[in-house]
Amino acid sequence: MEPVIIHNNRFYNSDSISGAAEYLPDNSVDLIITDPPYGINGDKLHQHYNRNEKFVVEGYVEIPQKEYAEFSLKWIKEAERVLKPGGSIYIVSGYTHLIDILNALQKTTLNEINHIIWKYNFGVFTRRKYVSSHYHILFYAKPGGKRTYNLESRYGLAEQSDDKRSLNNSDREDVWSINREYKPGKVKNKNELPTRLLVKMIQYSSNEGDLVCDFFLGGFSTAKVAIGLNRRATGFEIAKGIFDTKIEELETLQPGYLVPTLRETVVSSLKNPHKSWTKKDLKYLDKEFTRLVAQGVTKKQIIAQLGEHLGRGRWSIEKALKKNGSSGKNT
Ligand SMILES: C[S@@+](CC[C@H](N)C(=O)[O-])C[C@H]1O[C@@H](n2cnc3c(N)ncnc32)[C@H](O)[C@@H]1O
Repeated sequence: MEPVIIHNNRFYNSDSISGAAEYLPDNSVDLIITDPPYGINGDKLHQHYNRNEKFVVEGYVEIPQKEYAEFSLKWIKEAERVLKPGGSIYIVSGYTHLIDILNALQKTTLNEINHIIWKYNFGVFTRRKYVSSHYHILFYAKPGGKRTYNLESRYGLAEQSDDKRSLNNSDREDVWSINREYKPGKVKNKNELPTRLLVKMIQYSSNEGDLVCDFFLGGFSTAKVAIGLNRRATGFEIAKGIFDTKIEELETLQPGYLVPTLRETVVSSLKNPHKSWTKKDLKYLDKEFTRLVAQGVTKKQIIAQLGEHLGRGRWSIEKALKKNGSSGKNT
């Protein structure tokens, strides 16, 4: 089958298991982000969202519950094969079939990096139990190569919120609160992933020019964001109606169109953040601290000066001073 090629990216209106086997070579993909069908019998998805179904694209293909485990194992094995050593995979899963996805992952060589919880708005309304408002995102990687993880791609290590918390740390916590997008009057797939969620995964786990693959393109949201961030994109969607509608939208997008929307990161100039202290550095810190105190330099100034010299942040210096017993309380 001929792929549809857009901006040099190849997309296949095909089943992803046989499609990957035929079109994707071993070790060829840098990053996989995908949101497989849910395996909900009778497709009850439309009951979950308060929206006008006439704008939902027809033809979304579901997997019968009893086939879900086998189906998951097959496509995850293909994903494992096509990933480059060190390549990352993010699988978005509800709780209904989480066990099947986890079991399948266990039957591969892929290593768990994080089990992320994505908390969204518009939780499913219930009366006799709690409102369900999260998905699981299983972040795994293929062993054998260096994994891309762009630590300061969104927030520098030294950037702080107004209440002095590390913005980098908060952004990298494993619970992500990101709202779904409300797109009234637009033709959409049953459950499109929000741009913000995809931008985050793509920024941390890939670089410009990398190949990002989605095994279940649906509304092509992964591909759109990948192209928008100057990555290459590929993937599969079995439903012809969705494929044809969404591929047209893709043609109108300019590669890199999302780059101007990214926040500017103040990349840390710290040379040794989070590195363990050597005895030599601790000794130097102690000696210099005592010397500068004797000269009447304030504690704040000393910390800034020594931090720059040692390539470390304020907290790291303060902790080491405490450890040294030279807390400089009176300075
Ligand atoms: C949950 S949706 C993906 C939504 C997508 N992430 C988005 O943001 O729009 C899953 C998609 O997988 C498609 N699908 C189901 N079985 C498939 C298969 N074997 N190969 C490829 N696509 C399949 C469905 O038609 C559906 O569009």
